[in-house]
Amino acid sequence: MNKAKRRAVIAGNWKMNKNRAEAKTLITELLPLVKEAGCEVVICTPYTNLETALALTEGSNVKVGAENCHWAESGAFTGEISAPMLKELGVQYVIIGHSERRQYFGETDGTVAKRVRAALESGLEVILCVGETLEQREADITGETIAIQVKKALAGVTAEELRHIIIAYEPVWAIGTGKTATDEQANEVNHMIRELLGKLYGEEAAEATTIQYGGSMNAKNAAGLLAQPDIDGGLIGGASLKAPDFAAIVEAASK
Ligand code: 13P
Repeated sequence: MNKAKRRAVIAGNWKMNKNRAEAKTLITELLPLVKEAGCEVVICTPYTNLETALALTEGSNVKVGAENCHWAESGAFTGEISAPMLKELGVQYVIIGHSERRQYFGETDGTVAKRVRAALESGLEVILCVGETLEQREADITGETIAIQVKKALAGVTAEELRHIIIAYEPVWAIGTGKTATDEQANEVNHMIRELLGKLYGEEAAEATTIQYGGSMNAKNAAGLLAQPDIDGGLIGGASLKAPDFAAIVEAASK
């Protein structure tokens, strides 16, 4: 295992939070706190805050992402946003397949794969989310569940394209619940994902892929999780809404 071979990435997922004024305040507070970061820093904001975030982060080390994108370039898809629209704005990252999308908006492994394809073709960096529910963990099918999600989302993705994909392991039972996976539990699944990538793309590609953990990661537990050999960063929900908390996680990842 060689963490030096891959980039550590801490990404905030703001979800449906922050109006424009609040976004300005948060980003303005965050920028000086993370300017010496030794890892990549990304903030994924609601669509309505993307332009604000892009303007405020211009020339800084903080990158901007969206929380979803549609698979079509354009068309009759009321309420959706396409990957080329994001790219044109200057957005660099996009989260795809978050469990909240799967749970509340009918996202399937099939639509996740289509969105991944569209994002890659537009030149966006993808943060692909996978994770098991509590029911699946208790039924001892975590490995199978994650393997199916990863394989289906990456169907048709080449080894070259894989370099533009970060995988975020987010156990559904740990999201927004305050229940974090233990360092070992999280690492075990991340390791399994890396082994699967090794089978699909070869060891070198697997070793180069950033695999994050997400689910109640915070300023206190981040260091332990990030010290694990297969945890290369975090996808942060609640704690990304407070600049000092998010900055503390960035600092833990910079060591
Ligand atoms: P919390 O950090 O609020 O548990 O959310 C995690 C998450 O869903 C990030 O995408």
